[in-house]
Amino acid sequence: MLYENQGEFLLYQHLADQLAVPLRTATETHYDQHETFFLSWREGCLKLLDKDLLKKGGLTVGIGPRQGEQRSWPAPKDGALAKALGRKTKTVVDATAGWGQDSLHIFRMGYELLCIERSPVMAQLLADGFKRLAQEDWVQKLQLQAPSLLTGNAIDLLATLATPPDAVYLDPMFPPKRKKSALAKKSMMILRNLLGDDEDKEQLFAAALNATGKRVVVKSPDYAEPLGGKPNESFQGKLLRYDVYLKG
Ligand SMILES: C[S@@+](CC[C@H](N)C(=O)[O-])C[C@H]1O[C@@H](n2cnc3c(N)ncnc32)[C@H](O)[C@@H]1O
Repeated sequence: MLYENQGEFLLYQHLADQLAVPLRTATETHYDQHETFFLSWREGCLKLLDKDLLKKGGLTVGIGPRQGEQRSWPAPKDGALAKALGRKTKTVVDATAGWGQDSLHIFRMGYELLCIERSPVMAQLLADGFKRLAQEDWVQKLQLQAPSLLTGNAIDLLATLATPPDAVYLDPMFPPKRKKSALAKKSMMILRNLLGDDEDKEQLFAAALNATGKRVVVKSPDYAEPLGGKPNESFQGKLLRYDVYLKG
């Protein structure tokens, strides 16, 4: 955690204790020599910083629609993701929430959503984003609940769900095609640097198929082999695929 002489010091201390990470202050000499990543509140948002972002900026869970997404709620269910989730689907578990961008897309389309994230740092960033979402005028006017969030390994947590969701959505980290992809977004690069690849994605897939009521949807880069073998259906997005596995 990095305290930049702004805001409530106790909040920083509390979060540092919760995450069991050191608390640095920007007045400390060479504070930036100790860690590679920092969390700090900037402009009312919890932000993840690396050495490049320390001077300016920071990455946060963005709660606005992505380019090309509708602002209205519920947004039309007409893209590849909605097709993969299925017409009859009402409840979704996003078991790999990460930066929450797919979660928020799913939320805006009007599905009932539970998110799971195992990185305690990412889960804090998500919780901060969902808190900001709950305070948005349109969310309050429509009396919507921000998505629920569980922190922990979805391989274990999926087995504890009281009711099977209609769909479990998975977007684990696949190894990049090339060592350095010029196209990779900073947010995904930093996630990879922070967490590495998700080596246990086959186990996660098995847990998802076990826990779902009807289907598992896996987002994959277009060059990757399907995670669960031949899918029942596949929907093509830009440089990616949504593979659908129906529960038999
Ligand atoms: C590629 S990112 C997901 C990006 C996300 N779909 C988005 O729109 O921002 C993968 C995330 O899934 C999380 N993850 C991978 N395996 C998991 C598991 N077994 N349980 C919980 N979270 C997991 C990782 O920690 C990482 O944050």
